[in-house]
Amino acid sequence: MRNIDEHTITQAVLEAMANSPNERLRTVMTSLVNHLHAFAREVQLTEEEWWKGIEFLTAAGHITNDKRQEFILLSDVLGLSTLVTAQNNVKPAGCTESTVFGPFYVESAPRYENGADIANGAKGTPCYVAGTVKGLDGKPVANAKINVWQSDEDGFYDVQQPNAASEHEHRARGELRSDAEGKFHFRSILANFYPIPHDGPVGAMLAHMARHPWRPAHLHFMIEAPGYQRLITHVFRDGDKYLDSDAVFGVRSSLIADWVKHEAKDGEPAFYTLDYDFVLNPASA
Ligand code: BEZ
Ligand code: FE
Repeated sequence: MRNIDEHTITQAVLEAMANSPNERLRTVMTSLVNHLHAFAREVQLTEEEWWKGIEFLTAAGHITNDKRQEFILLSDVLGLSTLVTAQNNVKPAGCTESTVFGPFYVESAPRYENGADIANGAKGTPCYVAGTVKGLDGKPVANAKINVWQSDEDGFYDVQQPNAASEHEHRARGELRSDAEGKFHFRSILANFYPIPHDGPVGAMLAHMARHPWRPAHLHFMIEAPGYQRLITHVFRDGDKYLDSDAVFGVRSSLIADWVKHEAKDGEPAFYTLDYDFVLNPASA
């Protein structure tokens, strides 16, 4: 292979990969190279622009650590996360829709009994959340594993706080189980709209593209039960001003719910309630 030029380079790379024993990897990489080269040809990418791209990815790598995932953010703001979520979670009507995972789930969230206060000191107006996990047939799903996570009143997840390393620092996140009737309930705090982390290269890119970094208020849920597909989704707060311009394109109308305000009364501070039922897709569907 010599004297490769702009017209023969794509074929040369494809031929170099042709012997990969992993068929799926070959398919994905062949398509990636084809599209990447087509992109460079279409925009007539300059060397300066190519270098800017390398600098951008380098900065994303440098800022990424076990608490900050700039590459997921990049995927989110480019709509790739929503595309991949949507095309992998086509479900029968009646099932709860999926949406983006986001970068703030942690595996070691504390386990709580129903009724517990999962805020664990996170700041915000109290919010009581209740719901039922059901199958498509309407039957309750007992003992479903329910992971929930959310930001505090200031728009920060616990993992974004400076000294969030220890188990005791888990705030406004937890794992619960549905009861024999598929029901669950917990106390937490009111979720608020918040900006995705925008002090890094992805934030700079948003600013250059005249885009804002805000997400409408939401709770994250991941629900797992034997015999059902895992559900990763959010419940959004109706009336939020960012519902139609979510920085990561995650809003689905079916996931918007009324978070009911109960005014302060008899010396009791104001609080909110949220009721939302989840419908899981059978694993066989
Ligand atoms: C989130 O909802 O936690 C989130 C999703 C995408 C990017 C940043 C945050
Ligand atoms: Fe979130």
